[in-house]
Amino acid sequence: MKHYLQFNDLSADEYSYLFERAALIKKKFKAYEKHHPLVDRTLAMIFEKASTRTRVSFEAGMYQLGGSVVHLTTGDSQLGRAEPIEDSAKVISRMVDLVMIRTYEQSKIEGFAANSRVPVINGLTNEYHPCQILADIFTFIEHRGSIAGKTVTWVGDGNNMANTWLQAAALLGFKVHVSTPRGYEVDQKLAGATTGSCQFFSDPLEACKGADLVTTDVWTSMGYEAENEARKKAFADWCVDAEMMAAAKPDALFMHCLPAHRGEEVEADVIDGPQSVVWDEAENRMHVQKALMEYLLLGKVA
Ligand code: CP
Ligand code: NVA
Repeated sequence: MKHYLQFNDLSADEYSYLFERAALIKKKFKAYEKHHPLVDRTLAMIFEKASTRTRVSFEAGMYQLGGSVVHLTTGDSQLGRAEPIEDSAKVISRMVDLVMIRTYEQSKIEGFAANSRVPVINGLTNEYHPCQILADIFTFIEHRGSIAGKTVTWVGDGNNMANTWLQAAALLGFKVHVSTPRGYEVDQKLAGATTGSCQFFSDPLEACKGADLVTTDVWTSMGYEAENEARKKAFADWCVDAEMMAAAKPDALFMHCLPAHRGEEVEADVIDGPQSVVWDEAENRMHVQKALMEYLLLGKVA
């Protein structure tokens, strides 16, 4: 049994399979062709933080695969009344086939997985957001071909997204230029950063030079709201604008996992401009996660 708790949980070979499978699953979806490998299978989705994309993509995706879903939040389950995560895992995993969790500390999802009889998927933790990077790389491949050897520039917070980009770079052979304000650097151990796969810049404009993809995220992630005012000051120069995009390669793409704050981490003319692929990126969450759920339950089927 395999869990998907961080990007490193799958190999480069498994990712090649998933990207091909996601392309096929997307093609079938666009053609209204039935694809029901998970009939009678149930996915439990547990949300301890808010979500739009993750909820819709997993829920719609599971139904499209022929299965069904159960949706739980902290507020409407015993999770919010201090039932131990280990007990919740033992109970929930006796009744469903697959679990997706969005929570705070990575240690929580690890505690759940250690007590689960079924595969567990990370739908975002403070430390990682692997399903998003899966979708982002799939989107890059659709637009530009293989990401191996390419340069991705990360502008902004050293957060769950940044950590996951760095893990992916080391695994799939591309490079990440990282520029974060002082005090908001990535935790290199957490990100598994390797010397060849990342380079750090104090100036975000410098970091954008030569990029094939420029990407950013909110200045304040969920769970860090108390730091909002301090972050607004610290991040003022880490706003992706037309000048940064002009420093990147002429055909560079722009991505943002969304939700976005125009005028903060990105200017409207960039996120709504011709280099932006944010809507494909959001849609692709569903296609890659369908491939992932199928793989975790059935293994390679082609
Ligand atoms: N990108 C992302 O995970 O979006 P949601 O918070 O809406 O799920
Ligand atoms: N870094 C953001 C991503 C939201 C999808 C957060 O954790 O809130």
